[in-house]
Amino acid sequence: MEKIYLIKPDCIGNINPDIYGVFAEHIGGVIYDGIYVGEDSPVENIHGFRKQIIEKLAEAKIPLIRWPGGCFAETYNWRDGIGPRKKRPTRISWWTQKDGKYESNAIGTDEFLDFCNLCGAKPYIAANLTSMTPSDIREWVDYCNSPKNTTYMSNLRADNGHPEPYNVKIWGVGNENWSGGGNMTPAFYSNEYRRYAKLIENTAPDAELISCGANADDYAWTHGLMKGMCEKSAKMDGMAVHYYCGGAGDAIDFSICEWNELIAKALRMQEIIDRHYSIVKAYDMTGSAKLCIDEWGCWHPEGSGPSNGANLFEQQSTMRDAVISALTLNIFNNNCDKIRLAAVAQLVNNLHALFLSCGENCICTPTYHVFNMFKNHQGSAAFKVLTSKDISASASVKENKLTVTLANLSADKDIELSIENVGFKLDNGKISLLADDDIHAHNTFEDPERVKPREAVFSGSNGNIILLPHGSVMAVEADILY
Ligand code: AHR
Repeated sequence: MEKIYLIKPDCIGNINPDIYGVFAEHIGGVIYDGIYVGEDSPVENIHGFRKQIIEKLAEAKIPLIRWPGGCFAETYNWRDGIGPRKKRPTRISWWTQKDGKYESNAIGTDEFLDFCNLCGAKPYIAANLTSMTPSDIREWVDYCNSPKNTTYMSNLRADNGHPEPYNVKIWGVGNENWSGGGNMTPAFYSNEYRRYAKLIENTAPDAELISCGANADDYAWTHGLMKGMCEKSAKMDGMAVHYYCGGAGDAIDFSICEWNELIAKALRMQEIIDRHYSIVKAYDMTGSAKLCIDEWGCWHPEGSGPSNGANLFEQQSTMRDAVISALTLNIFNNNCDKIRLAAVAQLVNNLHALFLSCGENCICTPTYHVFNMFKNHQGSAAFKVLTSKDISASASVKENKLTVTLANLSADKDIELSIENVGFKLDNGKISLLADDDIHAHNTFEDPERVKPREAVFSGSNGNIILLPHGSVMAVEADILY
């Protein structure tokens, strides 16, 4: 029998709800026919956005949505996406050469911010540092945030139907500037960053600014960026890190060996967090460069999604993706003292998506269910858990309510697990379990609820024993008694 020790009060820190964010880029089927179906669509919608997705995001308390890219952001001119739709220009996007799709600009700033509002999520806008000037971005911030009737931009916003300011607080300054965003060196990027950051700060002093950090284990980028920022500082509130794992079989058709390989790759998130953060610490930048893992997830070969490859990067999501979601979110909880926010890539019809949709069909993936099962961690105090290597776990407490989330990382071994709560008692426990005998199980338009959580009672006295089936995810909630 395996054991998990919950030892209170070894508190790690508070879990910022924004760790549970999502990423929605103008790419493939994420926006058009993903979140947006159009006001005249027979699909149930609010202001043209899929009602089902709005409701499900609200149910899972998704706190933050990053937009409009990704790579897309670095050629995006925000002015194309405001004003009367009929007058908006269709443009080549960053992705056009990959999938032949053009950007209609039907969804722009006002629509995106409306979508966030409908879902109860805060916006995180990624500003273009490759092909727009600092003053263009200043005007974008002005358009979003200046009080009513104060500036030309605030009046323009009012003309477009939104007199009240949106007060967008979180701004990314560039995306992947080490590659698709201008192929810059860290030294060059730091200099560019300062120009944009200064003007955004000048326009909205309370904005939070996120710099472009490294890809995966590119620690040289983090060194270079921190060095550049130390030479001459600028406002910085977070540093983005991107980490995708893939190259271990197909999205649906994979072997146990490939399961293990991908789990091992996903577990590297811990090392990536530790090493980037230790560099940030070495430069004494922990006060300003908390980690923002604003693109993460599995990147499988294309073509497994319902569009059969028509939507760029669309992939199916199995129990393997659910377990990787759970282990990643557990790592984030366990490192909440180092992480400002995170965003899974992406929201719908793309990599590691929460939903798959097409026309009137829309389903929740196993990944969505994991986010929903983990939501009680948001805003809670994380504390340390000790367990064995086949189990991923995190625990948190808020107002005497305990949440423990677990994943059995083994593809073929069920685990009997004893929950050992040291220093407190548990009562009124309940369990939510996401499991399937087949590790390849996934939801489809024909069978949308093949994978969904099932509830059970957990009695809560000391020495509780639970069964964690192979390749499963579990959330345990209980009252804490001292
Ligand atoms: O999520 C897809 C792409 O992956 C994003 O546009 C980019 O930032 C990353 O390389």
